Amino acid sequence: MSTTRSAAEATNGAPLLDVRDVTKRFGGLVAVDSVSFSVDAGHIKAIIGPNGAGKSTLFNLISGFYPLTSGSMSFDGEEIAGLPMHAIARRGVARTFQTTSLFSHLTVLDNAMMGYRMHTKSALFDVLLRTPRTRREERESRERAFEALRFAGIEPFADRVAGSIPQEAQKRLAIAVAVASDPRLVLLDEPVAGVTSEETDAHAELIRTMARRGHTICLVEHKMNLVMGLADSIVVLHHGRKIAEGTPAQVSADPAVIEAYLGAASHA
Ligand SMILES: Nc1ncnc2c1ncn2[C@@H]1O[C@H](COP(=O)(O)OP(=O)(O)OP(=O)(O)O)[C@@H](O)[C@H]1O
Ligand SMILES: [Mg+2]
Repeated sequence: MSTTRSAAEATNGAPLLDVRDVTKRFGGLVAVDSVSFSVDAGHIKAIIGPNGAGKSTLFNLISGFYPLTSGSMSFDGEEIAGLPMHAIARRGVARTFQTTSLFSHLTVLDNAMMGYRMHTKSALFDVLLRTPRTRREERESRERAFEALRFAGIEPFADRVAGSIPQEAQKRLAIAVAVASDPRLVLLDEPVAGVTSEETDAHAELIRTMARRGHTICLVEHKMNLVMGLADSIVVLHHGRKIAEGTPAQVSADPAVIEAYLGAASHA
């Protein structure tokens, strides 16, 4: 959290994330169908598309939550396809889930500490014996967690039970949990779902600040005003396939995109 890295320098101009011909099948259903795109360090990339297009599945593949059926993915120049979720997280990929996945019975602070602890090294015996390393890491994780809560604007809620705070604050907490580990890439799945339109502007600003601090962002969101105002570029999925990619202006004028959304609306 404390380091503001120059994201673009860190990768020598190569994309931070490169997804190549990635496919995911669930039985007979091809949820993600040979999708390729890349995300440059420091950029905000949005993934949009009608319900069921494969957006969350794509995030589940990038984060290692599901194995790929085929294809490849590299992060910072190294292949990550096939790695388990914790190994991908260790390399600096954090994510939020579409439905809030907070530990709702724990405090806000504890949730943020969990986010940081994804990256600490204490082994089980360290924890049991309370070695100096564990104590140091505990102190450090509290500090980092507080910093993340301050960043997300929810420090006053630190001691509250996470499930009892307002919906909008829970969405901010999901972001705090994700950034507590100082990730290089953050995958945000519908960060403003259920948030009022006035609050959406504040969230947009928070996401912009994340990018300025060196967190590269991949964002799935249905609220088009947020996406259009925030994204450097947009990938459009429909029935698992990439049907368009470009700037917000290019994508919103693309006949295939308009057709996909109108078609989806008429079947809704
Ligand atoms: N674990 C799973 N098992 C079987 N099918 C799945 C699984 N996860 C997703 N799917 C299917 O894959 C397709 C893509 O789903 P996904 O959740 O990725 O869509 P989405 O673009 O995120 O949609 P939404 O905008 O509604 O969140 C859907 O048809 C969905 O039913
Ligand atoms: Mg989804």
